[in-house]
Amino acid sequence: MIRVGIVGVGNIAAMLVQAVEFYRRTERTNGLIHHVIGGYRADDIRFAYAVDVSKHKVGKDLAEAIFAKPNKVPKYIDVLKTGVVVRMGKVLDGVAEHMIEDFEPASELEPSEKDIVRELDEHDVDVLINLLPVGSAKASRFYAEAAAKAGVAFINCIPEFIASDPYYASMFKENNALALGDDIKGQLGSTIIHRALASLITIRGAEIVESYQLNVGGNTDFKNMLDHSRLTSKKISKTMAVASTQPEPEKLLGNLFAGPSGYIPFLGNTKVSYIYIKALGFMGLPVTIDLKLSVDDKAMAAAVLVDVIRLAKALRDKDVKGAPDWASAFYFKYPPKQAKSDEEALLNLYLKLEELGIEIEPKRLYFWHYLKK
Ligand SMILES: NC(=O)c1ccc[n+]([C@@H]2O[C@H](COP(=O)([O-])OP(=O)(O)OC[C@H]3O[C@@H](n4cnc5c(N)ncnc54)[C@H](O)[C@@H]3O)[C@@H](O)[C@H]2O)c1
Repeated sequence: MIRVGIVGVGNIAAMLVQAVEFYRRTERTNGLIHHVIGGYRADDIRFAYAVDVSKHKVGKDLAEAIFAKPNKVPKYIDVLKTGVVVRMGKVLDGVAEHMIEDFEPASELEPSEKDIVRELDEHDVDVLINLLPVGSAKASRFYAEAAAKAGVAFINCIPEFIASDPYYASMFKENNALALGDDIKGQLGSTIIHRALASLITIRGAEIVESYQLNVGGNTDFKNMLDHSRLTSKKISKTMAVASTQPEPEKLLGNLFAGPSGYIPFLGNTKVSYIYIKALGFMGLPVTIDLKLSVDDKAMAAAVLVDVIRLAKALRDKDVKGAPDWASAFYFKYPPKQAKSDEEALLNLYLKLEELGIEIEPKRLYFWHYLKK
């Protein structure tokens, strides 16, 4: 069993809690990236702790809070009461000026770092997930430091540099804790598809000369990102995820855009991405790709979290601490060290887990069995 804590009971949390219930009630494993990691199945995930700051969520059972406004994830499944009451968090920079009417902070007493460390301990949390709005620089560090001091595994889903920052990596290591991150890479989101196309173009001998990835959506995540001052790290994270597939990443950076590009309320949790790539191929002749992707953005994130939560617990079971780059490269946009392709990232992960004696099944790389022959 894995005891999970959630920071920010927004749309991803709403999808994740329902997803775990969905896989608990079925024998089906369709849609899961891996069925088993370190002996854990999706239904070994339990929610043990949650914090938010919204007056519509604080004080409610998690099963109720996930459907409170302004969350937009529909009710796919009846989630029974979890017994986890959402606690008041520390607001800091989690709520942007233009989001006050959406997130509506409660007027309850805010916890100190010591309070959070104690609560994590009292609730026996194994893994804490950061699901704060983009731009929550101070708030993310507040919860990350508390997680490190409590000795739990911290999964940083947002584009704040924590696992990738050597200062925080050593803090986690010194406290015998683990950090995975940064900025979760959706199961089939715009980043992974843009990266796959960029890698493919490179291995076919062509050269990318310019590219953009425009993303629009209709939930609080996209509304929050209308404030451009909150986007600095998001743009770095998304751009570097694509540029890092190239032989000389810096060469492409001036002609590459990848980032949030608009808020369209009627889209709800559907994210629409437009990816354009111009490359020069044989004899310098141009090749152009224009692709439109439409996904449920929150399902994409929850699918990856169902893997990463189990990975974090399996690594803790083997006493892995700090912020190992190989553990994050496949699952995050801005890991401590980027792999050139997602196949390389997954291969490194499989090799390291094998070394540690951690089972991961099924193997998704078709060439794994040839390598092992
Ligand atoms: N595919 C994806 O959805 C995806 C991919 C990568 C990264 N992310 C990032 O994951 C994060 C979560 O996404 P989401 O759609 O669930 O966001 P959301 O806007 O639905 O939820 C954010 C929640 O955080 C709460 N909050 C704000 N300040 C807080 C604080 N100081 N303490 C505790 N709670 C606080 C809000 O009340 C809200 O419930 C976002 O930063 C998003 O950009 C999402």
